[in-house]
Amino acid sequence: MKLRESVLRLKPYTAGKPINEVKRELGLNDIIKLASNENPLGCSPMVTKVINELAYQVNLYPDAANFDLKRELAEELGVKPDNIFLGTGSDSIIRAICSIFIDPGDESIMGEVSFQRYEDNTKIMGGNVVKIPMKNHKLDVEKMVDAITERTKILWFCTPNNPTGPIIKKDELFSIIDKIPKDVIFVMDEAYYEYVDDPDYPQTIPLLGKYPNMIILRTFSKAYGLAGLRVGYGIANESIAKYINAVVGPFDVNLIAQNAALAALKDKEFLRKVVELNKKSREYFYEEFKNIGLEYIESQANFVMVDLKADDKVVFNELLKRGVIVRPGHLFEMPGWIRVSTGRMEQNERFISALKEVLKGMH
Ligand SMILES: Cc1ncc(COP(=O)(O)O)c(C=O)c1O
Repeated sequence: MKLRESVLRLKPYTAGKPINEVKRELGLNDIIKLASNENPLGCSPMVTKVINELAYQVNLYPDAANFDLKRELAEELGVKPDNIFLGTGSDSIIRAICSIFIDPGDESIMGEVSFQRYEDNTKIMGGNVVKIPMKNHKLDVEKMVDAITERTKILWFCTPNNPTGPIIKKDELFSIIDKIPKDVIFVMDEAYYEYVDDPDYPQTIPLLGKYPNMIILRTFSKAYGLAGLRVGYGIANESIAKYINAVVGPFDVNLIAQNAALAALKDKEFLRKVVELNKKSREYFYEEFKNIGLEYIESQANFVMVDLKADDKVVFNELLKRGVIVRPGHLFEMPGWIRVSTGRMEQNERFISALKEVLKGMH
């Protein structure tokens, strides 16, 4: 076998532990998963209705042009359909971006603790990953821009940043945006956009005209609750959109996913409830972490990173035994921390009570 050199360097992505795996391994039945930033309210009933209606149409190929969904998104976002591209989750768009920009030896720059798929996909293309240390758990955007070299192709701005939670604020973005050379792409990964309530969050779509090297990524996986269907989208100037569309497979967004996303966009009331619950859950976690005496990172997303001052692998396993799945920090190079996704209130309470029990024996 003559594998490409870059493939030999890959390490597999560790996803959140699936509920069925924990059931199998630990013989537990009642399990809550707060590990993958999924939507604890499921999805809109308008979506489930569409899915049921389409069940008899799965013999048909989906619309390769994604015409309706692009048109609807374009209208909602105030851009042209030609500015939009869709993929099997924004994950597949991250791969497409790397495949159109990264040649072997090119660099992409990201935060030291950020979304792992930027690294994986850069490496798949034979590129080199440049990781910039975090500044108080936030992306150090200034240092990221300072690190640009002749080989730099992409800067990855994850905002809110997964797994730490903070956003890049307006003044931070505007202090560096004009220093990014026009031939370097910067990706604003806004997977958690809908959850942000900080008034200092910059609206990036109006900047597209001035910055043709900007790509914005969003997804239906989080606030819209369609993670299992895999629909993500991006917004950029028409020429970038054209190349990305040429790289993603024509039928990558399947028939059910396209129509479910359309339905999800219409249910504003569901989205409002999701965002409201998330805010309440974050506040509840903060309050309880303070009570236990734990430090946490304030988050603008649907998860919170908390410093356990204890071995995260041990706490992770002890929580598992109690039927609670979280994400241990060592996976993000943050040993001693865990990342917990917000759940429904009863799930949040169950997590906190399990955490208290586990930590009691450890501190
Ligand atoms: C920052 C960020 N970007 C992109 C994704 C990919 O999401 P999806 O492929 O489900 O759209 C995730 C998923 O967790 C994420 O956290």
